[in-house]
Amino acid sequence: MIDPMAAAAPDSPRRPTLRVALLGAGGIGMVHAQNIVRGHGSFAIDAVADPDPIALDRAGTSLRAECSPDWADVVASRSVDAVLICSASAAHAEQVVTAAESGKHVFCEKPLALTVADCDRAIDAADRAGVVLQVGFNRRFDANAKALKEEVLTGRLGQLLLGRITSRDPEPPPPEHRRSPEGLFVESSIHDFDMARFLLGEEPVELASYAGALFDPLALEGGDNDTAVTVLRFGSGTIVTIENCRRSASGYDQRMELHGADGSARTENVRPVAMILDGPAGSTASPGAWFYPERYADSYAAELVSFRNAIDGGPVEATGHDGRQALALALAAVESSTKGTPARFDVR
Ligand SMILES: NC(=O)c1ccc[n+]([C@@H]2O[C@H](COP(=O)([O-])OP(=O)(O)OC[C@H]3O[C@@H](n4cnc5c(N)ncnc54)[C@H](O)[C@@H]3O)[C@@H](O)[C@H]2O)c1
Repeated sequence: MIDPMAAAAPDSPRRPTLRVALLGAGGIGMVHAQNIVRGHGSFAIDAVADPDPIALDRAGTSLRAECSPDWADVVASRSVDAVLICSASAAHAEQVVTAAESGKHVFCEKPLALTVADCDRAIDAADRAGVVLQVGFNRRFDANAKALKEEVLTGRLGQLLLGRITSRDPEPPPPEHRRSPEGLFVESSIHDFDMARFLLGEEPVELASYAGALFDPLALEGGDNDTAVTVLRFGSGTIVTIENCRRSASGYDQRMELHGADGSARTENVRPVAMILDGPAGSTASPGAWFYPERYADSYAAELVSFRNAIDGGPVEATGHDGRQALALALAAVESSTKGTPARFDVR
């Protein structure tokens, strides 16, 4: 068990420690676990469930928490306040419903579920139980995204005409994440679909996606894509282009721009070291962050604090509905790119 005294949030007033169960102790699960140990949100990890004995053993040792391969047993038997769902995407819907029905607050990594019907089931379960359901759209908590959103809210950009989101990964994910036509859109572009909705504060009405497996033989074999462009048309008329690629030789590349009638605002790729070296052969910038754990480290900590604030009565800043809408867009993008036609988006 984590020492509660060590779990006081470094970035918020001291408040009682809440006990959580972690379902899934892989890459992102351990990112959240480390943030909990650092005190973000004043949580303590009481139990960990993961069917993989290696992941379970590693998490149990480093977190000193109860361990089980059986997530349902952990949710049923542990008297925790909240459940963090960081398991494989296919397990999310069932785990949200079970955790909510047992009265636990739920933080669920994206995607909330793999079908819109399952998103609705998860949202209904949380509503019925009166528990918080927050989805892991961490980029909403990134300083760059918040600054852009603030510009939109002040109205200084005037009527929004165009948006652009560039999101390129340094390398493809593990093989199991690139074996289906949904892979790129549901696992990765979903962050960008959520970001477009978040920045504009409205829903798209139509999208067109063009995608292909241009360099990754595994993606080609599995019917997945490694490269995609999606154009979203919003209700107000604003057109947003989202560009995704699973290869970027310079490292993770995350840039955004909003172009309005009265001005434009853009965010450049974040480089941990902001040095530019000028020499006789020209200028060299320091490399960007390699991938999401480094680039978005602050946002993962901030979303945990936000989850805790929501449990304490504050607003949920990335809701189940946000998870549903982003998943619906991702699935519409799969359909559009497969059929080669634009897809209407059902606004609800
Ligand atoms: N928000 C983000 O930036 C972000 C980043 C990475 C991953 N994710 C999401 O988080 C989830 C996990 O991704 P990852 O990269 O950590 O994957 P991973 O493969 O590294 O880890 C997943 C872990 O979950 C375990 N697991 C599988 N089924 C389970 C179940 N039913 N119950 C409990 N544990 C189970 C696996 O054994 C594994 O240890 C995915 O849904 C992914 O889309 C989000």
